[in-house]
Amino acid sequence: MKPSLAMILPALLMTVPAQAEDSTYAKHVRPLWEAKCMACHGERSPYLAEFLSKKEHYTKLSLGPRMDSYPALVMYVGWPDTGAFMRRLDDGKNAKNGKPGNMYVHLGADEAERQKNLAVMKAWVGEGGWVLSKFKDLTREDLGKMQVKE
Ligand code: HEC
Repeated sequence: MKPSLAMILPALLMTVPAQAEDSTYAKHVRPLWEAKCMACHGERSPYLAEFLSKKEHYTKLSLGPRMDSYPALVMYVGWPDTGAFMRRLDDGKNAKNGKPGNMYVHLGADEAERQKNLAVMKAWVGEGGWVLSKFKDLTREDLGKMQVKE
């Protein structure tokens, strides 16, 4: 019997990889940020310049720089505080010294939750864009791989 289209189609469809849903700030990052980061990086916090001018003071209060919107957060991914987001959240697997960034611990209560949430952050930045370099060591190619959709 000649295989009909109706017989072949289901098999064909199964081989086409499901289009991964685009990761966005609004859908994927914001809820996680509210749960895990907002307490210390929300509206009580100052923006970066003010934070840096009194870093010790704010750090003592357990306040980091303010990152409570899309534009305020992408500053720590692309520019001007290039790669800070990745350096602080990385689990150490991409770091030269093998140590996790000091914000990694806030991603979850246990290693499984931290890994799951790190994957959410990585998917948003883009797997190829998850580069820990500072601006001077970053290539245009690296920058081009950062997705960070709003
Ligand atoms: C308990 C409070 C607390 C929580 C929760 C927290 N942070 Fe922080 N964060 C800080 C403080 C304080 C600093 C500044 C001191 C330092 O540099 O370590 C900081 C610094 C940072 C920096 C570096 C900013 C710079 O100066 O370049 C980034 C990026 C960051 N945090 C991201 C996050 C993200 C993303 C989360 C959520 C997963 C998070 N933090 C959760 C307190 C917190």
